[in-house]
Amino acid sequence: MTLLIDNIGELVTNDPSLGRGQLGTITRAAVVTDGGRVTWVGRAADAPAADERFDAAGGAVLPGFVDSHSHLVFAGDRAAEFAARMAGEPYTGGGIRTTVAATRAASDDTLRATATRLRAEALRQGTTTIEVKSGYGLTVPDETRSMKIAFEVTPETTFLGAHVVPTEYAGRPDDYVSLVCGPMLTAVEPYAKWVDVFCEQGAFDADQSRAVLEAGRERGLGLRVHANQLSAGPGVRLAVELGAASADHCTYLTDADVAALADSDTVATLLPGAEFSTRSPYPDARRLLDAGVTVALATDCNPGSSYTSSMPWCVAMAVREMGMTPAEAVWAATAGGARALRRDDVGVLRPGARADLVVLDAPSYLHLAYRPGVPLVRQVIHNGVLI
Ligand code: NIG
Ligand code: FE
Repeated sequence: MTLLIDNIGELVTNDPSLGRGQLGTITRAAVVTDGGRVTWVGRAADAPAADERFDAAGGAVLPGFVDSHSHLVFAGDRAAEFAARMAGEPYTGGGIRTTVAATRAASDDTLRATATRLRAEALRQGTTTIEVKSGYGLTVPDETRSMKIAFEVTPETTFLGAHVVPTEYAGRPDDYVSLVCGPMLTAVEPYAKWVDVFCEQGAFDADQSRAVLEAGRERGLGLRVHANQLSAGPGVRLAVELGAASADHCTYLTDADVAALADSDTVATLLPGAEFSTRSPYPDARRLLDAGVTVALATDCNPGSSYTSSMPWCVAMAVREMGMTPAEAVWAATAGGARALRRDDVGVLRPGARADLVVLDAPSYLHLAYRPGVPLVRQVIHNGVLI
């Protein structure tokens, strides 16, 4: 069945060869999809006939958002911890263990219900591709069921057994790293596409992080790193050295970190929800972009440091607080996320791409930043299907 999305006021293709500027925009545009793929993109006046028609009513149309960093498999919430931070308490990452305890105590059905609910919440807001991490189980069975549930929700699954050292391994971090690199990795491997590590003071140091990433790589997993979130540590340079697809957070960077990223294929994934919710300084996207670094935006959706599933909100925050132009932020939330997941079939609207589109109740993508917090996503089309 072919579908014509017609009467598009402004189409963002993210393909400069198809339209104007970095976003490859086309005004008075149309898109045709067939079997979950885009088959045609261009001026509405030139559009071919199709079996069905969707009227975008003059609204802007974008590629579906690509949220390349989330932690949707957990139980409980940490609203009280958030309130304490807003009253001046610092964020240390120590609250991760609170969620680990709640997650271990929860049934599979409870974990599945939360992950499914949050995935649906994100989809309604235009996120058509999402990465989901484990990391709140931290035993072989709890990480395995977390990864199974993540894999039910998305193919972009990341094993984060190295999130923190669990309390039963206190004082024996290297024993825990051995567990992660051995039996835990073996158990989760069927459900994992990526491996990640929280490289930070209080979590895992450079040697431990390297061990986890190299063990994952030996099993054929792609690499991602929680890097330089709370301090200018070794995470970013380790990510670059090992060829990670993405270094995530990048809040505290030295000039050497920025130079290393600029000279690499590693995407800097910025997570404004984490700085918002921990009352921390925002990462400097402008510095990264000016140095030539590829930047992605993602939600980091998790119950501790960033309990948002909204990519439009991340775009608005990145524009207002991180020095990005609206065009740069929209690119980072779509094509940038796709780069961070090493995907070329999403984050772009051109023939052959996946038919993942967002129709806005606004004439231009600019409104995503111009009208913060407003539910502008009128229609989501996922795999060619109207949601
Ligand atoms: O990406 N930094 C480490 N992990 C999460 C926080 C998890 C939590 O606080 O529960 C993050 O921000
Ligand atoms: Fe995270």
